[in-house]
Amino acid sequence: MVLETEDLRVDYGHVRALRGVSLKVRRGSLVTLIGANGAGKSTTLKAIIGLVRPSGGRVFFENRDITGRPTHKLVAQGLSLVPEGRHIFPDLTVRENLKLGALLIRDRREEERRLAEVMEMFPRLGERLNQKGGTLSGGEQQMLAIARALMQKPKVLLLDEPSLGLAPNLVQLIFEKLEELKRGGATILLVEQNAYQALRIADYAYVLETGRIALEGPAKALAEDRRVIEHYLGG
Ligand SMILES: Nc1ncnc2c1ncn2[C@@H]1O[C@H](COP(=O)(O)OP(=O)(O)OP(=O)(O)O)[C@@H](O)[C@H]1O
Ligand SMILES: [Mg+2]
Repeated sequence: MVLETEDLRVDYGHVRALRGVSLKVRRGSLVTLIGANGAGKSTTLKAIIGLVRPSGGRVFFENRDITGRPTHKLVAQGLSLVPEGRHIFPDLTVRENLKLGALLIRDRREEERRLAEVMEMFPRLGERLNQKGGTLSGGEQQMLAIARALMQKPKVLLLDEPSLGLAPNLVQLIFEKLEELKRGGATILLVEQNAYQALRIADYAYVLETGRIALEGPAKALAEDRRVIEHYLGG
């Protein structure tokens, strides 16, 4: 198991956001965490990568206990989060944004190699290297956020609702890119409200309800589960 949480709990003051979340991510797999607004999906990712402090439970990365470790250390060790809402730098160019994802790389040639790799994956970005991030379309900004995370070749990519607010054709494109990453051997923990698409591409899925895992199983099985169909796949 490359990533694992064990009975993870997070409280925001008196709000109990996570009430004991245990999940596992196998190397090379795509695991999805689905659930309604406020279920605790973003909190789970933030607790994993050290942006919020758990009030209980453990996080293991490559079998080491990383609970409460600072985010920058976890990033250096190979965890990367693409947060909800595409945090790119609007006044920097696409190239500058991508280079910020490669700050930990000392070797210039290696940086150029990775730049070439992500441009191959996202040709639209390659065509817009000198354009300001803020002038990209919403879908292009989301691709930039993902590409920037990939610049550091993370061992595990954490994605928080990459399809949020995108037009259907761009949603499709984002999911195609995630499938492509998966075929390339990437390990991904994907948070999504688009349960249909997420279950279609994932190997394994967890359903989060008010801070607890309500259901889990192989994604194909969950996509056929009556409760999932009723509550998350629009009947
Ligand atoms: N900084 C905070 N302070 C107080 N409460 C918070 C904070 N962040 C999140 N919460 C609460 O914790 C719960 C879980 O929030 P979280 O953002 O993890 O949900 P989510 O599943 O990602 O929802 P969404 O699908 O809307 O993004 C919610 O009730 C939310 O209001
Ligand atoms: Mg969220």
